[in-house]
Amino acid sequence: MRKLSNVFVLEHALIKHKLAVARDSSTETKKFRELIGEITAIMTCESMRDINLVPKEVETPLEKTVQHRIKEKSIAVVAILRAGLGMVDGVLDILPTACVGHIGISRDEKTLTPNEYYCKLPEGIEDKTVILVDPMLATGGSADDALNALKKRGCKDIRFLAIVGAPEGVEKVATAHPDVKIYLSALDRELDKNGYIRPGLGDAGDRLFGTK
Ligand code: PRP
Ligand code: URA
Repeated sequence: MRKLSNVFVLEHALIKHKLAVARDSSTETKKFRELIGEITAIMTCESMRDINLVPKEVETPLEKTVQHRIKEKSIAVVAILRAGLGMVDGVLDILPTACVGHIGISRDEKTLTPNEYYCKLPEGIEDKTVILVDPMLATGGSADDALNALKKRGCKDIRFLAIVGAPEGVEKVATAHPDVKIYLSALDRELDKNGYIRPGLGDAGDRLFGTK
């Protein structure tokens, strides 16, 4: 894949380790869910390095000082249902005051085209930093749809966290949304003819929720 300035593949030993365990088909639902949450927490830290902070006076036990904090009510996490739900708690572990939105999108298994069936976003989302989460970026159709829905609502500062991406989908979304920073834990080899990421981790939703 050609180099894209808005795509960041996080090179972190802990992510590599946890993702290797998550990919293993013998890893069961409970463990898989925990790993997705832990990987997301690390990704949240990495992707928020340059977040805007505001000065705030703090009184330490010894003196008054001006320090920097995240502005109140300035962050929203938006999950693409269903698998994105598995990443929400990982973001909230790091950013407990973020509000949460949901966009329901499901891929037609034959045509691989996305179908939006639900959208509930926090009030005032257009002025917040939005962290969009979905563990899998395959053809890129679902992410593209979700990003368009957020932009239609006026969102301007959006970061997209996906755990595994396929080159085809990453290039599609990064090119269509040059203003969105895309963070991945891994950029995998390819999409197969059924639209699954290889080597991938299988169907993230089914593995998170034990539905197969
Ligand atoms: C999966 C995944 C993404 C989408 C990625 O969801 O969680 O949302 O596929 O594929 P794409 O990049 O080709 O659009 P799916 O539609 O299977 O729904 P689910 O989360 O309800 O299982
Ligand atoms: N959705 C998944 O859950 N896994 C894939 O490999 C592709 C899309």
